[in-house]
Amino acid sequence: CGIVAYIGPKDAAPILLEGLQRLEYRGYDSAGLVVNNKGLKVRKVKGRVADLAAVVPARFKGGGGIGHTRWATHGMPNDVNAHPHLDNKERIAVVHNGIIENAGELRARLTADGAEFVSETDTEVLAHLIARTVQDAGSLEEAVRTALKSVVGTYGIAVLDAERPGEIVVARNGSPIVLGIGEREMFCASDVAALVRYTRQVVHLEDGELAVLKADGFRTFTMDARVTSKEPLTVDWDAGHYDTGGYEHYLLKEISDQPESVARTLSGRLDDRFHIAHLGGLNLDARETRAFRRVKIIGCGSAYYAGQIGAQLIEELARIPADAEPASEFRYRSPVVEHDTLYVAVSQSGETYDTLAAVQELKRKGGRVLGVVNAVGSAIAREVDGGVYLHAGPEVSVASTKAFISTAVAFALIALHFGRVHDLSPADGRRIVEGLRRLPDQIQEIVEQNEAIEALARKYAPHPSMMFVGRVRGYPVAREGAQKLKEISYVHAEAYPASELKHGPLALIGPEMPTVAIVPDDELLDKNLTTLGEIRARGGKVLMVGHRVPDPHLAEDAIVVPKNEPELDPILLCIPLQLLAYHAAVALERDVDKPRNLAKSVTVE
Ligand code: G6P
Repeated sequence: CGIVAYIGPKDAAPILLEGLQRLEYRGYDSAGLVVNNKGLKVRKVKGRVADLAAVVPARFKGGGGIGHTRWATHGMPNDVNAHPHLDNKERIAVVHNGIIENAGELRARLTADGAEFVSETDTEVLAHLIARTVQDAGSLEEAVRTALKSVVGTYGIAVLDAERPGEIVVARNGSPIVLGIGEREMFCASDVAALVRYTRQVVHLEDGELAVLKADGFRTFTMDARVTSKEPLTVDWDAGHYDTGGYEHYLLKEISDQPESVARTLSGRLDDRFHIAHLGGLNLDARETRAFRRVKIIGCGSAYYAGQIGAQLIEELARIPADAEPASEFRYRSPVVEHDTLYVAVSQSGETYDTLAAVQELKRKGGRVLGVVNAVGSAIAREVDGGVYLHAGPEVSVASTKAFISTAVAFALIALHFGRVHDLSPADGRRIVEGLRRLPDQIQEIVEQNEAIEALARKYAPHPSMMFVGRVRGYPVAREGAQKLKEISYVHAEAYPASELKHGPLALIGPEMPTVAIVPDDELLDKNLTTLGEIRARGGKVLMVGHRVPDPHLAEDAIVVPKNEPELDPILLCIPLQLLAYHAAVALERDVDKPRNLAKSVTVE
């Protein structure tokens, strides 16, 4: 989602619309704005910023306003759920990025106190909360501060008060807020991309900070009202350059974004008391869940490989037989649809035709289908009986990275949920909940190995062909690693189960064909080391990706990643392979974000 705010002598509406346009790549299912001119004037629509611009009348005057583009998390994308959200007296308007985790509880409390909610969003609780404190508070910032004290979750917010037209209050906790300093005017946005047309002087708020913006300047505070002092930074990117967030490519941006995108997938879904996952969108009660005897996962490309990781997680944690199949194949082979099989369709875009057609075929035959989808309100999301949204945020680069990882994480949540309905013990549930919570920081550690992985990518990129091997949990990791390399660097890569190497492809191995070997430190470590020995004996180079290097003679190079629980390790082992493919593609001067012959979503047969 994106936030923009303006206060100053000019009319806010055109400035807000321009800023929102720049943020649109971050989320685009709805947009809205409000200006403060003798009362709050609001327009919001489902759709794109252009649709919003079409309904903002020229008479929308006023030099204070806030705007938002939304990528739905709570509630369907529609006009009502679009931001800004107002209290019932239309005094307070709020735009918000992030997720309020205790929204349900606050909503109940506010409703009991007379608030009438009009939307399904978590954001609306903020408007009602602030409206309740603003009467008695000495200032708008005090009202916002008081309200935020009862909020658990992440936010970047901007707040307007109809009775204080000269100011805007913003606050940050987990979602970025950047102030832009102009000539007797102030700007604010969730991303510098929206500001660079107007000013190069910016101030980044820290988590737990609030700011009051007036035309002639700003003041910043902590949550306990201590004044903080901020040094403005000068940004030297021009407007066009900043769309990728300062990264050279969207792909690298999206890889680097994964600590946050995984945190969003997990947000509000882990339960530390009962060691379960909350996935209300599945629409399955415990009895129905127990009635399924098999899980069949379908998807295309990376979605299919993520589904393979998912199938293993479900088998391991829930002990329900599960497997994944390309949706494209599934739909053409006239599948037998069983009433006690649960079908799961995986799609980042929610628009892939092969996957959609498979879902429709399943529904026609009476199958129960869930979706694991990133794009809220997309065709597949609408077609399925329930599911899990990834909340990974928009993915721009054609090759999937953060949506892939969030899909694997969503399957870990599903597997935990099913496991705890079946036979997974509370102790094992707790182990998985704690493991999942560690993922964002561990992903960050791997992303910080960027330079070392870049050097390895330069070394291996000139080879015409690469083998990727992994055993059981490592096999889908090898497949996705090979897929990423193929897609963006055009280097031929073949993925094989490590156990099958000696039954054929070992004949290919020699000095000209290096192997990327996925070698987690688990119960199959010794078997994997034997495979490495076989490769080395044929003169093959090995780049090992694992948790430690037990024998340096077995691998010419190694990437060591942090260890999590064995069931969750595949998720982390994928991250270095994304960076490897990225840097190989850069070294070979490929069109990284838009590889030849490929499209982000294939909406045709
Ligand atoms: C296309 C893309 C792949 C992607 C696949 C599935 O083929 O090139 O990168 O994995 O579609 O896309 P979906 O949106 O359904 O996940």
